[in-house]
Amino acid sequence: MKINVLTLFPDMFTPLKVSMLGRGLEDGKWDLNLVNFRDFTSDVHHHVDDTPYGGGAGMVLQIMPIKKALDSLSDKGKVIITAPQGKTFNEEMAQNWSKEENLTFICGHYEGFDQRVYDLADETVSIGDYVLTGGELPTMSMIDATVRLLPGILGNEASPVEESFSHGLLEYPQYTRPADFEGQKVPEVLTSGNHQKIAQWRHYQALKTTYINRPDLLENRELSTEEKKMLADVKAELDQ
Ligand code: ADE
Repeated sequence: MKINVLTLFPDMFTPLKVSMLGRGLEDGKWDLNLVNFRDFTSDVHHHVDDTPYGGGAGMVLQIMPIKKALDSLSDKGKVIITAPQGKTFNEEMAQNWSKEENLTFICGHYEGFDQRVYDLADETVSIGDYVLTGGELPTMSMIDATVRLLPGILGNEASPVEESFSHGLLEYPQYTRPADFEGQKVPEVLTSGNHQKIAQWRHYQALKTTYINRPDLLENRELSTEEKKMLADVKAELDQ
């Protein structure tokens, strides 16, 4: 997969070049092409923004340098703009994007883009109900969530399918050595060697965490008979 990013601050993207994603870049498992759209301006001062028609505070990013930067790419693929007014990013989007050959992100700044820039994109996506100074951090989050799903990026191939959100539930608690830390013991079932009991316990804990932290996820989920019983047990446990 090749990912293009149109940004005024290419230097901000160092975090994608370290750790597992960085190793993936070095190994050619994915490619990152940072494009500064200021390089596509034609005026002496290299302006990328101007005041809004109709008045109001702040500056608006102009279409011309962004359109030229996009046109310079031979392999745009799906074009994504990061902005607070977009639909909220989630794991399902990351899974869909991870199947694409090419993606192009456009990072905004100031008071946002001229509306005609949004019309150049396939999707406008937000990372949550809060406003950041620019689209670089949201873009990095989305790239991380997408690229980690590519084959060979994570050390353990099995782990992405087992984690939070992939089954519509949050992750169950995990433990490692020591079995007893200053009196805080690991749940006995995990050291029992009984794999069926362990799977049941994890499923119950995942439901419990989801019910406590993200009950909205359960509303959109078709619960199995076993899960309905587990959820009743979770509620009874919490009522105690
Ligand atoms: N740019 C500024 N805030 C943002 C947000 N919450 N999501 C995506 N892009 C943004």
